[in-house]
This record gives sequence, C-alpha cells and structure tokens, in this order.
Amino acid sequence: MYRTHTCGELRASDAGKTVTLAGWVQKARKMGGMVFIDLRDRYGITQLRVEDSTQPELAATASKLGREFVIQATGTVEERQSKNSKIPTGDIEVSLTGITVLNEAQTPPFTIEDESDGGEELRARYRYLDLRRNPLKNAMILRHRMAHEVRNYLDDKGFLEIETPFLIKSTPEGARDFVVPSRMNQGQFYALPQSPQTFKQLLMVAGYDRYFQIVRCFRDEDLRADRQPEFTQIDCEMSFVEQEDVLNLFEGMMRHLFKVVLNVDIPNPMPRMTWYDAMDRYGSDKPDIRFGMTINDITREAHGHDFTVFDSCEYVGAICVPGAAEYTRKQLDELTEWVKRPQVGAKGLVYIKYNEDGTFKSSVDKFFSQEDLADIACVCQADPGDLILVLCGPKRKAQTMLGTLRIEMGNRLGLRDPFNFAPLWVVDFPLLEWDDETSRFYAMHHPFTAPKPEHMEWFYSDKKEDLERVCANAYDFVLNGTELGGGSIRIHEAEVQKRMFEVLGISSEDAEVKFGFIINAFKFGAPPHGGLAFGFDRVCALFGGQETIRDFIAFPKNNMGRDVMLDAPSAIDDTQMEELALRSTVQNG
Ligand code: AMO
Repeated sequence: MYRTHTCGELRASDAGKTVTLAGWVQKARKMGGMVFIDLRDRYGITQLRVEDSTQPELAATASKLGREFVIQATGTVEERQSKNSKIPTGDIEVSLTGITVLNEAQTPPFTIEDESDGGEELRARYRYLDLRRNPLKNAMILRHRMAHEVRNYLDDKGFLEIETPFLIKSTPEGARDFVVPSRMNQGQFYALPQSPQTFKQLLMVAGYDRYFQIVRCFRDEDLRADRQPEFTQIDCEMSFVEQEDVLNLFEGMMRHLFKVVLNVDIPNPMPRMTWYDAMDRYGSDKPDIRFGMTINDITREAHGHDFTVFDSCEYVGAICVPGAAEYTRKQLDELTEWVKRPQVGAKGLVYIKYNEDGTFKSSVDKFFSQEDLADIACVCQADPGDLILVLCGPKRKAQTMLGTLRIEMGNRLGLRDPFNFAPLWVVDFPLLEWDDETSRFYAMHHPFTAPKPEHMEWFYSDKKEDLERVCANAYDFVLNGTELGGGSIRIHEAEVQKRMFEVLGISSEDAEVKFGFIINAFKFGAPPHGGLAFGFDRVCALFGGQETIRDFIAFPKNNMGRDVMLDAPSAIDDTQMEELALRSTVQNG
C-alpha cells in the first residue's frame, strides 16, 4: 500500500497515529535544526518534519529533496506547536521515520503555486504541471461536480444519455466544419459534428422522447475567450413539448446547479426578455442585466437640429452613465478613441454632461440649446452628475455599438461582479436574418428551428418584409452577458422543412443531398419536439467566476487553435498522405 491517508486528510484527532503519505514535494526547508517538507497531492498539503539531531540520515535525505520530487513518507501524526489556520491540515504535522524517493523531478519551468511566475504560453506547454496548481485543480473539480449534478438532475427527470457519432456528414450550422479524410473511401471526407443537432432529432423520431448527452462539439471558427474549437455541450432534446415545457425543465436544471454547487438561489421564475427588447434596451441578444444604464432611443429629440451627423442617421441612441459628469476632456477623448476601435466600429462619440448645478455641457452645444439637451436628459432619465453618451447609425448597428459601450462602462464602474448571478431567458428570436452581402436569408438559430405557428402565413410569403417578421420559438439562456445555451422548438413536418430550405436558398436537390436523411425521417412519423444545448465549458467558467473557458478545460487549445503541448496540428508523413490520397499545396518545414 503506497499510502494510508491523503495529504488533505489528517486532523488533530489523528494525533498519535502512524501514517504513510505519498505525493509531490511542494518545498523542503531547513529551520532551527529541523527539515520541514510540504507534501502535496490532489487533496491538500501536509507538513512533514524531520529532526536533524535525532535522525541525521533521514535529515540528510530530506534536505536533498527537490521541488516536485515524488516521495513516500512514513511517520507519526503530532499536534503542531504553531498552527496554520490557512490550511485544513494546519493543526498537525507528521514526524517522520522514513522517506522513500519514488521519483526525482527536474526543476519545473515555473512555480507550482496559486500565483505562478510562468507565462501563459510556458504553462500551456507544460499543461500537466499547470494542472497541479490549485486554480486549475479547483476548476477541474468544479467541472466534474457540475457534470455529475447535470446527470443526476436529468436522470431524475427520465432523460436517457445516448451517444452520437463523431465521424459524420457536414451539417451546416454557421461555423466551418473540421473534416477528416477517409482512407477507405478515398477522396471523401467525414465532418466532425458542430453539434449533434440532427442526431438528436432522429432520436426523437425513434421515440427516445427525453435525450441528453454531455458531448464534444467541433467548430472551425475564430477563437475568443469563451470559444474553443472543440468544446462541450449539455445537449438535450424532448418530444411532445412546447417551449414552456423546455424552459421550465432547464430552468430547473440551472436552479439545481446553482443551489447544489454554489448554494445560490436564482429568481423563480427567471426573468424573460424578447429578442427585440434585448436589442432595443441592451444592444445585445445576451444582455447583462446586473446593472442598468440601458439604451434610450433619442432619435426624435436628436433629429432636426441641423447637426447632419445625427440627421443623416436612421437612429440616435444614448446611455446614461451615473455619476460620470466629472469625466475630464482627456477621459472623453480616450473613450472616443475606444469606440472608434474596429471591435466597436463607431465613427465618433457625442457626450452630454449633466452638471451638478443643473446646466449641460456637450460636444454638440453649437446645435443643441440647454432646453434641447434637457429634453434628451429627460428621455434618458438622467440626474445631475450623470454623463450621457450618444452614438448613431443604422438602428441595430447603433444599438449594438451602444451595447458594447455599455458593457465597457459597466466594467469601468465595477458593476460586473462575477459572483452576482443574473440569469434570464431571451425569447422570440427572429427566425431569419437577412445578409446584404450574399443577398439571402440565413437561419438565425439553425435551419431546423420552427417558425411560430401564428407566423406561418408570413413564412410562406415571398415578400422579404414578411419573412423578416417571422419569429421562432427559439430561446437563449443568458447569464451575466454570456450566452450559456440556446435552443428551439423544431420543425417536425417534411413540408415545413422543405419550405425552410427554400427560404434559405437551398435547392431541393441540394437539400436532398445534404439533408435527405432527416427529410426522409420526418416522413415516418416525427413527433413534435424541441430542445436546447448549454455550452458546458461556459457554464463551468461562469460558476467559477471567470469569463475565459480555457482554465475549465483540462487540455485546451490556444488562440490559434494549437495545442502547444502536443504541437498539434502538424504535418503528417508522406505514407499517411498517400494512404489518404491527399496532396498538400503547402510546403511544411
Ligand atoms: P448553439 O450553436 O447556440 O446551439 O450552441 C449551444 C451553446 O454552445 C456554446 N458554444 C460554445 N462554447 C465554447 N466554444 C464554442 N466555440 C462554442 N460555440 C457554442 C454556447 C452556446 O449557447 N444544436 C444547437 C442547440 C439546439 O438548438 O438544441 C446548438 O448547437 O454556450
């Protein structure tokens, strides 16, 4: 037996016991004729003690231990003279009688402490060492706990966990597919699933009316803090349900997770907001409702003052930043530069300071009288001391820019406490999104989302304005400005699915080639169904108080989609290329 206890287990009540521990040397130090070793494993740290005078040989071995050596140590548990209240084992130490070095270790390239001295790239290369650190270890434990609780909850509700294949045919869902060449079918490729969307719908046709899966998904898209090329979904689907059934069940799942994992009570019922309200008031389909500062439409007040910038815009909107009227010229200039960054995309920023004395100072004083500015302040419900920030443009674009600015101001004013949780459902998404560039409609969620029954007439209309008005029973679960999950009630009739492909400009031949399997399945008795998927990495990260998902994935990719530890992706050798009948046009190395 390698060990009798873990390094996180022993307490004062164990005093007098003979124990054997095994783990990694966090540090070994000499002090006042003794050698102290901090021994670490997944469960914690225990202090070991060797006395120079009585055990010179053991002390010599102990003082030669380097950081991260793997050792086995035997001794007697003793209550400590000076206790350490910071760690659970801080009341005791183990007075050693023997040490066995199980394995030596090179000095690690960075310190394995809560605050490491290693940069991100270096730590990524030695991910297995980084994973020894508490912040990552705690993230892995949290993730495990969450997965376990998801399974508990869904099992309790009668869901079956069913696996679906990874080597599939491409199902376009917005992002690019990762593809895998087939050796046995040369010149042909599998795609890795962006989600199990079509499979879960086929499972509904097969009669498995409550399905879920904690499943890896693959998307070849630009990466961000909350996006990885391979990520995990809690993917779910139900038959014989309406939107209300789905929302209630999964609101229940999130309530369960919040309660058992964080002991947090979320509002019951959770707030809901339509997509249109979210865009109008928050400039985002994933509103952060932890703070106000909502967007005000001041188009009417802004137009007609000979200020061509405003007059030439469809929409003028403003947010009111509380208590920021004292912003200096320099701060306002900096903010103006900030909104001009390509990520925001504004041409400029107009400000109105509502001074404490009730007067206004603005960058458009030439065009707007004090009364005009007071009108705007009134629409924005501003108080003396507030700063009004104004942007204009085409309606949705201007709102989106204001939404981005709002989040930035929320950050600057410290209004986005990660441990203040404000979830909501965003509902009633438009079914379709028009793209000017390609001059066609795209599915806002995915092509299997059903139009609302009451909008069917518009759905079958040929007019662009009608199609733009069609809404879907589609919903997103949003938490603190992050989209954690999304889903919809699906199309279950072959005829409606056909019409959807037609609206999306997919010819019936193309639809047959790409989606024949699902159109066919719908001919054999498809039940009404709907579902959703949560981004599991994102759920874990937010529960852990972070926006970046990387630390909640054991072996993540970097911003370039590379695994720097494995050095992947990489070239494959000529034989492999030949077997797959591939020829590269890129010279590697
Ligand atoms: P959707 O594409 O909205 O829906 O994805 C569901 C959730 O998955 C998470 N997510 C990601 N997380 C990390 N990295 C990524 N690259 C990434 N992309 C998405 C998000 C998102 O809300 N089949 C549908 C679901 C359905 O209709 O049932 C789907 O995949 O948190």
